[in-house]
Amino acid sequence: MTGSARKMSKLLLLLVFILPSAAFAASSSPWPMEDFDPDLENKPSLQNGMKLYMNYCIGCHSLMFQRYERTADDLGIPHEIALEQLIFSGQKIGELMTTAMDPELAKNWFGGPPPDLTMVTRARSPDWVFNYLKTFYIDDSRPFGVNNTVFANVGMPNVMQDLQGVQTCTERKMVEGSEVCSKLVVEEGSGVYSEQKFDQAVYDLVNFLYYVSEPARLERQRTGLFVLIFLVILGVFTYLLNREIWKDIH
Ligand code: HEC
Repeated sequence: MTGSARKMSKLLLLLVFILPSAAFAASSSPWPMEDFDPDLENKPSLQNGMKLYMNYCIGCHSLMFQRYERTADDLGIPHEIALEQLIFSGQKIGELMTTAMDPELAKNWFGGPPPDLTMVTRARSPDWVFNYLKTFYIDDSRPFGVNNTVFANVGMPNVMQDLQGVQTCTERKMVEGSEVCSKLVVEEGSGVYSEQKFDQAVYDLVNFLYYVSEPARLERQRTGLFVLIFLVILGVFTYLLNREIWKDIH
């Protein structure tokens, strides 16, 4: 193959791989998604995420495959502190992280119970949840007075508005025949947190949900590392043994 032909075939290959994903990303969400990079080694982040979850989310969303005890242990939170400062429902430490929301009432309020979030970062991706939580904006035409750029016409109220402040859509554009929001602005000083602090809070919350979606992930990664180290050491000894055995035969 000549140089230019090779270049050409490389380009074609690149197009074959990149084009479909670009097209998919464009059609699935017109909002420019920010990346989310989870960090399960960051215990303070996970602890803060759990605290936010217990204050802002568990009233509606259960984490029904997760127990308080396991979570507290994995995150390095002593049981007494978890019971005193994080579990407001009077549940015991060994119980599952269920919500106190009555499903009948939820049906009246939201048209259906809010979904369980144990697996949400896997079902949707951590990036999606991160962007979703940051992009609620005022929309008076909606039942709860808010809309969302990632989840159009969402049925969830903006529960962290006191922290983030009042966010409005200042620019719109047409995408595939419908109008979507393309720019969001938070009213200066309307939230308890600065923009940076709110970003960090949402980061911690999604980091926590990422942990919850597979609590054994950390353990699995550590075990994997030990296995690799073991194999390397074993490899060295096998090599030495091999040399020793063949030494006198030649
Ligand atoms: C007042 C009740 C309520 C509270 C509190 C609440 N949510 Fe929701 N949430 C809902 C409802 C209802 C939906 C379903 C929206 C729909 O389908 O239109 C939802 C949907 C979601 C979804 C999308 C799930 C999916 O895959 O479709 C995520 C993610 C989510 N909530 C995260 C959170 C987080 C994180 C918190 C805490 C900061 C929170 N919610 C607090 C009611 C609530």
